[in-house]
Amino acid sequence: MKAKMTIDAADRVAKIDERIYGSFIEQLGRAVYDGIYQPGQKTADANGLRQDVIDAVRKLNVPIVRYPGGNFVSQYKWEDGIGPKDQRPTRLDLAWQTIETNQFGLHEFMDWAEKVGTQANMAVNLGTREIMAAANLVEYCNFPGGTYWSDLRKQNGREKPFGIKTWCLGNEMDGPWEIGQKTAYEYGYLANETAKAMRRVDPSLELVACGSSSLDNPTFGDWERTVLDQCYDNVDLLSLHRYYGYYGDDDPNELDNYLGKNVDLDRFIKGVVAICDAVKAKKRSQKQINLSFDEWNVWYHSNQQDEETEHWQKAPHLLEDIYNFEDALLVGSLLITLLKNSDRVKMACLAQLVNVIAPIMTTDDGVWYQSIFYPFMQVSNLGKGVALTPHVAVDSYKSREFDAVPYLDSIATYDEEYQQLVIFAENKHQEDELDLDLSLRDLTITEVEEATEFCGYAPKQTNEDGVMKLHPLTGVKTHDGHQLTAHLKPLSWNVIRLQ
Ligand code: AHR
Repeated sequence: MKAKMTIDAADRVAKIDERIYGSFIEQLGRAVYDGIYQPGQKTADANGLRQDVIDAVRKLNVPIVRYPGGNFVSQYKWEDGIGPKDQRPTRLDLAWQTIETNQFGLHEFMDWAEKVGTQANMAVNLGTREIMAAANLVEYCNFPGGTYWSDLRKQNGREKPFGIKTWCLGNEMDGPWEIGQKTAYEYGYLANETAKAMRRVDPSLELVACGSSSLDNPTFGDWERTVLDQCYDNVDLLSLHRYYGYYGDDDPNELDNYLGKNVDLDRFIKGVVAICDAVKAKKRSQKQINLSFDEWNVWYHSNQQDEETEHWQKAPHLLEDIYNFEDALLVGSLLITLLKNSDRVKMACLAQLVNVIAPIMTTDDGVWYQSIFYPFMQVSNLGKGVALTPHVAVDSYKSREFDAVPYLDSIATYDEEYQQLVIFAENKHQEDELDLDLSLRDLTITEVEEATEFCGYAPKQTNEDGVMKLHPLTGVKTHDGHQLTAHLKPLSWNVIRLQ
């Protein structure tokens, strides 16, 4: 099969906000306990933070990490996680029906974030708590001193404010599973009043309101409109959450459908943008609301096992999806979709980061990488500068849910500072190689710096045995500085870095 691609320097989607490569640590399962925090583990520091996990997270280059939830936050009292550890209460975590010892909390998370070199995206509880609990948390974290909460922070060992800029106003407040679920009006009203109070403490905050927790929720659309009607002027971003699963049998048509889920993600994003802009027009506002896709990933492998997990355990194995090769291909394509929409998606969080639906898994002895680790690592490290829309001529296929899924999914990024052009390209065809002819306009290639392919694995193969690797993509040829050819193998994720 043949594909023609043209990349024009003038066709900019947007300057990429690198927070699009964010991730998420929820106080859930083994994400924190036995994940990033395990006192006594051989690489752990004096505070219990595992260095082997920090090193793995650094490879993924995540600029922002959302914390502490997730569903967990909607029943969480942040005050339980501060102060001397031996005085912290052990509580029931009603979200996941586990036991929370609170040995890890705000200070431990911020220490970890500093060691990783990432920012915090802090969520407040708007499920079971009200305005002042959130405002007090901002005071505790960001106020310099001389007040009750800021002095308590100092007493707890942190003299300087944490200076947390980005905050989520609750989590999935439309979800029937959420503790403290609200109607759109109730939530929008509470989010607005909470935002006002938080900003009185620190006017520099960037605030994210909850959008729908899934495109499938019956309230989708009305939820966004009603919530924004209430809080438009006091928030900056609206969230989206979306998880995908492979629910069919092993038939190849089902795999085609699964690999086309990027079409659904694109539809979801464009729908939410349309609603944000409709509210903007109605309000005659000058302000634009952007999107924070603050939970996205594949999540389905562990569902059955989780149903059988006994309640009220400490740090049980929960949501421990073991990802396979087809999941990595989908994750690559979802990343491309986020970049294609980077004019409005300014932040996103791969949910999650360690052990819980995660690219990084831990054992007591070390860490291992899941299949999805590789495309994420490549895009987060190389997808910098501006996103450029590639014009692609290639055949499409029809699947169970989608009318037209192009066999080639791709995006280019151009980093003006280093004059580096990177092409991310996925061939979704299960049998055919794809001959790619690329033409550049107003961009010149002098060298192929690096070209890799991730392919050759059976769709259901996982990386528990650590065999998955990125391999060199050979035979990439450039001609006269404006043309390139490459042969993309069936079911392959490819990255070409040019200078
Ligand atoms: O990421 C796992 C869970 O998915 C989060 O806690 C929740 O927000 C979503 O439903």
